[in-house]
Formats: sequence, C-alpha cells, structure tokens
Amino acid sequence: MHIQDQTPTMFFLTPVLVAVVCVLIVWIFKNADRNANRKKGEARVHPWVDEDLKDSTDLHQVEEDADKWQESEESIEHIPFSHTRYPEMEMAKRSQEFYELLNKRRSVRFISNEQVPVEVIDNVIKAAGTAPSGAHTEPWTFVVVKNPDMKHKIREIIEEEEEINYRKRMGHRWVTDLKKLRTNWVKEYLDTAPVLILIFKQVHGFAANGEKKVHYYNEISVSIACGILLAALQNVGLVTVTTTPLNCGPRLRVLLGRPPHEKLLVLLPVGYPSKEATVPKLKRKGLDQIMVTV
Ligand SMILES: Cc1cc2nc3c(=O)[nH]c(=O)nc-3n(C[C@H](O)[C@H](O)[C@H](O)COP(=O)(O)O)c2cc1C
Repeated sequence: MHIQDQTPTMFFLTPVLVAVVCVLIVWIFKNADRNANRKKGEARVHPWVDEDLKDSTDLHQVEEDADKWQESEESIEHIPFSHTRYPEMEMAKRSQEFYELLNKRRSVRFISNEQVPVEVIDNVIKAAGTAPSGAHTEPWTFVVVKNPDMKHKIREIIEEEEEINYRKRMGHRWVTDLKKLRTNWVKEYLDTAPVLILIFKQVHGFAANGEKKVHYYNEISVSIACGILLAALQNVGLVTVTTTPLNCGPRLRVLLGRPPHEKLLVLLPVGYPSKEATVPKLKRKGLDQIMVTV
C-alpha cells in the first residue's frame, strides 16, 4: 500500500533526475575542456618554461606537505669580519680590469676536445660554492661529467628532446629569435667538451635527522652561483655556453643518479675553444641603457 502511494511521484522524479544528471555531465565536460584549453594556451604562450622547473610555489608546498620539516638552528656564533680595503685608485683599476675580463666572455658553441686541468675545475666549482644563498641553504649540486660514454648519453637525450623543442614545442617566435645565433638541436660540443658541468637546484634539503629543510629562493641562489661559475671560468681562460636543456631535466637526473628533489637548472660544456670557433657579432647595451641612478 505504502509503495503504491509513492509510484506516481517516482515516475515524475525520474525524468527530472535524468535531466539534472545530464546537465551536470555536460557542465563537467565543458569545464574540463576549458581547463585543458587554458593549460594548452599557457604552454603555448611560454613554451620555454621547463615543465620540471615549474616549482616557484615551493613555499606553498611546504605548508601543504604532510612531511616533517626541520627548523633551522636558532643561534650561531658571530665572529669579526675580515675585510681588505683598497685605495680608490686601485679600486678604479680593479673594477675596470674586471669589467674588461668579463666583457670578453662569449657563449662558445665550438669546444675542442683538449683536456683541462682537474684542479682548475675543482677551484671554479669551489668559487661557485661561495655564492650567497637564501638562509645559507647552499641549494646546489654541481655534477661534473668527464666520461665520454656518459657525455654521449647526455648528448643523445638532449638532441632527442631539443629536436622536438625546435620542431614542435618552441613556437614560431622563439625559433625566429634563435636564428641569429645559428643554433639548432645538434650539440656536438656535448661530445667534444672535456667536461660537462650540470648544475642542479635542490628544491629542498634534508637535515641530519632526515627531516626536510626549506630551501628558500633556491632558484635565485643557484642562478647566482652559476653567474660566479661563469666568471671563474672566464678568469682561467676556459669557455662555455650557458644552456638550459628544455624538458631534459628528469631524464638527465635519472641518468646521473640524482635524487628527485634535485632539478636540472643549467648545463655548461667546458673546455678550450676549437680553432675554427666563431661567435655571433652581438653588441651589449651601454651603461646608459642598463643603469638608472636615483
Ligand atoms: C638562461 C640562459 C639560457 C640559455 N640557453 C641557451 C641554450 O639553451 N642554448 C644556447 O646555445 N645558448 C643558450 N644561452 C646563451 C645565450 O644565447 C647567450 O648568452 C646570448 O646569446 C648572449 O651571448 P653571449 O653569452 O656571447 O654574451 C642561454 C643563456 C642564458 C643566460
């Protein structure tokens, strides 16, 4: 009796329910499509942003992460600062000489296979390791590759990905901007350069007790270290080209046995220039174009 009473209401409700479910399904699909298109659009606008490096939201991750995070030590000894002061004449001379040295630096894409002294590579990396870093976290790993087989494997990965970058991922504007540099996906220097230095940023660290440590501003810190490394290489008469192998990071990280919290930022092939090396004739902006005094 009770069941029979409900039957007309159920008959009326079923089409209404079906209609509501249909509207919901259409809405969900439309939204999913819109999100996918927006993501595609973002990738098209900035095709040079490396998927693996998209983690400038590190600090939010920290808050959301269930893992334990290590607080840093609260006190540390402070000691007198040791400083060398130069007479103003000498300051002017040193600044001029340093500028002239760095102004000769060029990105060189033709590197000879002549070996470089091990001690020099150690010292330039030690120099890079003097860089300032957010809260003194030193969030960098410099992987030095000399083994010819390993260099060749790195070349194979990079050339494979770079060909896709040039042909599909980069977009017309980027390909046009690179034309003047005459670069393409063939990277002979990855075999010929006696040393490849791959610089990884550690998106977080680990304390002695295994808890994670926040690496504040890790990308800026590692970029500063890379700048010092470039200056140190120039200082000893070695050449390199700053490269950011797009979307190669995860494969190179696995090849080199580095852990997942390390992300490849920059790869520097290092050596002497080959005899036939050429560079694009570029002009640098003058002081009046780069400096504003307030
Ligand atoms: C962040 C960054 C990424 C770069 N990526 C590449 C690269 O992937 N391949 C390349 O051949 N050069 C690369 N370069 C080198 C630039 O093309 C070069 O610095 C620029 O053309 C100026 O030339 P110069 O270094 O001789 O002054 C990169 C430079 C920087 C700073």
